[in-house]
Amino acid sequence: MTTNEMKQIKIFDTTLRDGEQSPGASMNLNEKLEIAQALAALEVDIIEAGFPIASPGDFDAVREISRIVRGTTVCGLARCNPADIDRAWEALKLAERPRIHVFLATSAIHREFKLRMTTDEIIQRAVEGVRRAAGYCDDIEFSPEDAARTEHDFLCQVVEAAIEAGATTINIPDTVGYAVPTRMGQTIAMLRNRVPNIDRAVISVHCHDDLGLAVANSLAAVEQGAGQVECTINGIGERAGNCSLEEIVMALHTRSDYYGCQTRVKTQRLVPTSRLVASVTGMQVQRNKAIVGRNAFAHEAGIHQDGMLKERSTYEIMRPEDVGFTHTDLVLGKHSGRAALNERAKTLGFQLTGEQLRAVFEEFKKLADKKKEIYDGDIVALIEQRLHAPVEEEWTLVSFEAHCCSGQPPRAKLCLRRNGQDHVAEVTAGDGPIDAAFCAVERIIDKRLSCKGFEARSATVGRDAQGEVTMEIEHNGAMIRGRGVSTDTVEAAVKAILNAVNRIEAEMRQTADQQPTLPVEKVTP
Ligand code: KIV
Ligand code: ZN
Repeated sequence: MTTNEMKQIKIFDTTLRDGEQSPGASMNLNEKLEIAQALAALEVDIIEAGFPIASPGDFDAVREISRIVRGTTVCGLARCNPADIDRAWEALKLAERPRIHVFLATSAIHREFKLRMTTDEIIQRAVEGVRRAAGYCDDIEFSPEDAARTEHDFLCQVVEAAIEAGATTINIPDTVGYAVPTRMGQTIAMLRNRVPNIDRAVISVHCHDDLGLAVANSLAAVEQGAGQVECTINGIGERAGNCSLEEIVMALHTRSDYYGCQTRVKTQRLVPTSRLVASVTGMQVQRNKAIVGRNAFAHEAGIHQDGMLKERSTYEIMRPEDVGFTHTDLVLGKHSGRAALNERAKTLGFQLTGEQLRAVFEEFKKLADKKKEIYDGDIVALIEQRLHAPVEEEWTLVSFEAHCCSGQPPRAKLCLRRNGQDHVAEVTAGDGPIDAAFCAVERIIDKRLSCKGFEARSATVGRDAQGEVTMEIEHNGAMIRGRGVSTDTVEAAVKAILNAVNRIEAEMRQTADQQPTLPVEKVTP
């Protein structure tokens, strides 16, 4: 089959909406913009940028992404009620290609216990919602929430009515991850056979991974005629997550002989985009994760290695470079220049501005004094640290000392700088040198910080590898992440605490400058 004969499957990315609903994955506006731009560069067809009525932060993100991103449809979520739909449109109206996504639950369980509505009322509400949205733009998606557990007769009625009212995409969500592939495929086939106007809409599928079947269920839907798949980078999302974008895309790509389908996605951008999402959300990808995990292309067994040396296709169904892994034997070091660093950054998927390159190069030189060979993992860690630093760094680390010794309490001495002035604190407290440093930071900034998560990992291999620390700090009910890298793990932890503190201060300044766009409570579907 030639590429011209293959069916085009639309990739609808919901990392910024359903993905952000993962516990602990909330992102600020700049982070969302950065991810939206990466998704546009990946060439997904639709970016679901948020749920505008849910919070002022969601509204601002959808509005800014609509204003900035070009070449990709930008979508905003709304429940089937006028306030939600009007708010979604308000956020989307500057988009080059806007889409409003309205949803309403249809399953008996949701009708009876959540909505307390009859089937007739559901149909009426769905029709009114779709019509209102269609008054704003042409591209309307309707989702019967919990469709996978909805009675087929009723599902057909709702879908037909939604299309009649103007829906151009009908999304079939497996909201609770209950479906199995055969049943999911049968549901799509059933809709194609029984809904008379189904040809006027694209059928989409939206699977959750509670049973680990989200990708398999999505593929089964494609096999039966779905033309759009909803998914997230690294499969992040509510509970066990959503269908993983990189897995569905590479399954369709690698087995196009079987599915006869293709996507527009630039597969070489998968690994850089996955890294970006992991670093922004702090949700690291497991080593053996398909496609983007560190071990996804590592061959350990002697027999496999022997086969690979003779002929790669003996054990390799995809090439690592096709998904964006860059393999190079070249290591950078003390004598490497700014141009070489920039070249490597580009190969790794980063486009640095002049100012970013200057700052990363400065850190690179400091690292090269401590470490002879600098690998790709080191460079990624340095770049990510720079990219996720708040624009203005209130507090910077001047020096630190940390002591620990068995049987004695730990001690830390810290000197931090703010507005050109040095502040020193020395404390003997806590249950280790990092905890003592934490107490010293609290003393200097005069705030109590509640640490909710701490993760340390090495950026590369070897005893001189840089340690990368991610810290989650709760502030006013919100979770703020901080990251730090250094060849000294205690220093990396201090930098992570300061990074979080600077983000908290930046957000406090921003909130003070800003009137909330709409005083609504945070709602999630
Ligand atoms: O899982 C779900 O049902 C959803 C809908 C809003 C599409 O996320
Ligand atoms: Zn969902």
